Amino acid sequence: MTSDMEPKLLHILTMGCQMNVYDSQQMGRILAPMNYMPTSRADKANLIILNTCCIREKAEHKVYSWLGRLAQVKHRRPDVIIGVGGCVAQQEGYRILKRAPHVDMVFGTFAIGRLAELVRQVTEQKKRVVDVDETGTVEPSYIMPAKYEAGSATAFVTIMSGCDNFCTYCVVPYVRGREVSRKPEGILEEVGCLVANGIREVTLLGQNVNSYGLKNGHGLDFPALLDAVNRIKGLKRLRFTTSHPKDLSDRLIVAFGRLEKLAPHIHLPVQSGSDRILRRMNRGYTKDYYLARIEKLRKARPDIAITSDIIVGFPGEEEVDFEKTIGLVSSVRFDNLFTFKYSDRPSTPACRFFNKVPEEIKRERLARLLELQKEITLDKHRTMVGTTQEVLVEGSSKKRGDQMTGRTPCGKVVNLSNGAACVGQVVSVKIAEALFHSLLGDPIVFRNAVMSSSRQAQCGVKRRNAVCCTKW
Ligand code: SAH
Ligand code: SF4
Ligand code: F3S
Repeated sequence: MTSDMEPKLLHILTMGCQMNVYDSQQMGRILAPMNYMPTSRADKANLIILNTCCIREKAEHKVYSWLGRLAQVKHRRPDVIIGVGGCVAQQEGYRILKRAPHVDMVFGTFAIGRLAELVRQVTEQKKRVVDVDETGTVEPSYIMPAKYEAGSATAFVTIMSGCDNFCTYCVVPYVRGREVSRKPEGILEEVGCLVANGIREVTLLGQNVNSYGLKNGHGLDFPALLDAVNRIKGLKRLRFTTSHPKDLSDRLIVAFGRLEKLAPHIHLPVQSGSDRILRRMNRGYTKDYYLARIEKLRKARPDIAITSDIIVGFPGEEEVDFEKTIGLVSSVRFDNLFTFKYSDRPSTPACRFFNKVPEEIKRERLARLLELQKEITLDKHRTMVGTTQEVLVEGSSKKRGDQMTGRTPCGKVVNLSNGAACVGQVVSVKIAEALFHSLLGDPIVFRNAVMSSSRQAQCGVKRRNAVCCTKW
């Protein structure tokens, strides 16, 4: 039997959206007092958690393919505990235990606060447990950052859970429940604590942040919450996602011109450019209303970057509807687009709609849309070549470990061609090359300093002749 005090290793595999990333961090924080330390190695872990997503069929398939791989891990090391959390867990519950006999624990999206107790039941009582109860508080159990976040410059903070919008294609309201906002005090305390631990940029998360505070009346609505977070000393940048177009208020738009830490980027999913399809999706706005919001945003903050989500091949989508989407994308010229083929989700109304679009037409529409967006994104990136951008350094580039990487205020990824910059510092970077997914830039070197070994040690840089490109 293992005790709470023995050091143990925890591996969390996170799928899906930023909400799941936040929830995984929360799991790490909850299990840290039980002596679970994070590891990136599933083969060494005592506890493996799959934090799952079911937004599209493909995401759900990925979960079952991971579960297949974990069966082999359990076979080799029967002592390892395997837990399945997140949206698939909420949707499937006991069915996961039946389908995957090597799983010890299934816990839904409402059960994260009860995770420590569930792990104890598995380790001490040798039970297989399921918790898909839809009760639980939206307030996190632990605010103190765990080791997961050490060395990071950016963090997510969930400000509300659930969704009441019931877009006809979407599973989220069924797996995350009704919309509930956190109390502003807890959010401000959490952001303050993250900043005190070195976090420089915070992204506030909710399925529809515009309706924050409107239902439970904690005294602050979303623009007022942004004001309060903007006042936190030491925070450099503030972002939020996602904003539903139907609820994007004038007060929120004005905040982009008013709050100095609010980054000039909004993710505003449009889903379709056809009013007929938008109605069938139950989105609650028209194409013209959406375009008018974009115009107002650009007036309030001319440099604002706008990104969006689009679903192609929604049931009943005809060529003429799709062309309206193409027309909208050409006129708005988004900075980036996330495009998806419509996928039937159990329990959603659209799943029962007639006139499903054949797979090859969805594929062809997706390709046309991607091609158009690629041109627009590249065009926009090319206009940035030669400009100087303030880049918040987030860490080493995933593709090239010797390059540091960060983001501009608009959220564009910039890889630094040379020079050592510390995570969490804002570096002035001259953009040299435009690619589709990122930009390449030369950091402007201040004080022309080859870093001393003590400065290198302080910044966690280990490179011969590293030059410092950080304004001190
Ligand atoms: N709350 C956010 C979106 C959350 S889901 C909003 O309202 O914008 C992220 C994206 O997944 C959605 O914007 C949508 O484009 C896509 N999506 C959701 N359900 C889908 C489905 N059944 N098939 C294909 N894409 C889907
Ligand atoms: Fe899903 Fe619509 Fe809610 Fe977004 S707003 S989570 S798309 S139901
Ligand atoms: Fe997926 Fe659940 Fe997020 S279904 S997109 S992880 S809310």
